[in-house]
Amino acid sequence: MASEIEKFFEGGYPVLLSAEQIQQKVRELGETISAEYKDRCPVFIGVLNGSYMFIADLMRHITIDCEVDFVKISSYGDAMKTSGVIKVKKEIDCHVEGRDVLVVEDIIDSGQSVKYLEKKLTELKPKSLKFVSLLVKEGSAQVDYRCDYVGFRIPNRFVVGYGLDYAQKFRNLPAIYVMD
Ligand code: IMP
Ligand code: MG
Repeated sequence: MASEIEKFFEGGYPVLLSAEQIQQKVRELGETISAEYKDRCPVFIGVLNGSYMFIADLMRHITIDCEVDFVKISSYGDAMKTSGVIKVKKEIDCHVEGRDVLVVEDIIDSGQSVKYLEKKLTELKPKSLKFVSLLVKEGSAQVDYRCDYVGFRIPNRFVVGYGLDYAQKFRNLPAIYVMD
């Protein structure tokens, strides 16, 4: 049986963002955030699983003191559309009160995940709270949300690669592909 990922390498799906485009953008985001948080010690909270590759690369371009933690939530299950029901699968471990917090997301679609995290984290009284997302889908928001640092605004399509999955697969692709 042929592996499913081969189809990506053989050109079966269009590339939306190449590995080089992504790396360039991640570098710029890291430089911007490092400059804006100079002399502070922010805590970056990666939203698992989707943001694992982005946050790992982003941290290599953060040149100030900082901490890293993770929260794991799920709203999609294995489908292409959000279920709207957010489940926390791993809580935050770090101390949030009085800290400068940056939430790191892979992609914002309906906005429900970031909205949920904003409410949950605000209750923990951080000194500041900002959101970073590599991707934001255009025209798919169902709720009002904030995102302070955006890598790319993309069309309202289903994408995979660079941490993003379809039914848990294809997260290991170094580029981002359109799959629908
Ligand atoms: P939201 O709550 O609808 O904004 O969805 C956010 C989460 O859904 C993201 O953190 C992703 O894990 C997942 N997601 C949204 N769009 C896509 C996509 O196009 N491909 C893969 N995962 C997606
Ligand atoms: Mg996902």
